[in-house]
Amino acid sequence: MIKKITIAIDGFSSTGKSTIAKLIAKKYNYIYVDTGAMYRAVTLFAKQNNFVGKDFLEKDKLISKLKNVSLSFKFNEELGFAEMFLNDKNIEREIRSLEVSQLVSKVATISEVRKKLVAEQQNMGENSGIVMDGRDIGTVVFPNAELKLFMTASADKRATRRYKELIDRGDNVSFKDILFNVEERDRIDSTRKDSPLLKAEDAIEIDNSDMGIKEQFERICTLIDRKLQEN
Ligand code: DC
Repeated sequence: MIKKITIAIDGFSSTGKSTIAKLIAKKYNYIYVDTGAMYRAVTLFAKQNNFVGKDFLEKDKLISKLKNVSLSFKFNEELGFAEMFLNDKNIEREIRSLEVSQLVSKVATISEVRKKLVAEQQNMGENSGIVMDGRDIGTVVFPNAELKLFMTASADKRATRRYKELIDRGDNVSFKDILFNVEERDRIDSTRKDSPLLKAEDAIEIDNSDMGIKEQFERICTLIDRKLQEN
């Protein structure tokens, strides 16, 4: 039987984790799970129900309605990756908006939300052959993952990438707002009490500020192949 491993990719926002994870999943025929999409989906649910806004978070109300949040990923053959569904509705586009990005870190501080999502993520990874990206994958979700990567890049480079993505899809956003959001999310994600963004002790750090996708992908494939050859 071919050996399959669990690959955990953590790091700051907009470090290109999902781009790399999708390429890895394709090459090795692994399942890819974007856990950020799950936190974004709960945030969209909270926003639709008026539990979260710029200046408020109705934490208890959101917690009491969490049982009504059903998340699923459905593979889109044309796009080559799985899209996020909330209660059977495709929300892939909506969850990538700047508005959701501005609220998601707040929602991700709620322990009850994290508990629900971490349990679902652990179920998805039960059989290895999985590449999962997020903030707490190597530290909390899969502390025994065979390969852990930690991606970093300067805030300016990350904001430039995110800005381009949103402009390319037609959103009307300013670079200043994107840079502020990237830095603000770094701050909230790294300082929250429950499962803050941390580099796992055994994670390999990759700073891709000045690295192209091809170079990163080759470097990571070498690490994976090495792990696959170990007993
Ligand atoms: O990866 P992303 O930028 O789409 O993630 C959106 C937010 O979700 C991020 O700012 C923090 C939160 N998140 C988290 O707390 N834990 C994860 N495993 C993934 C994302």
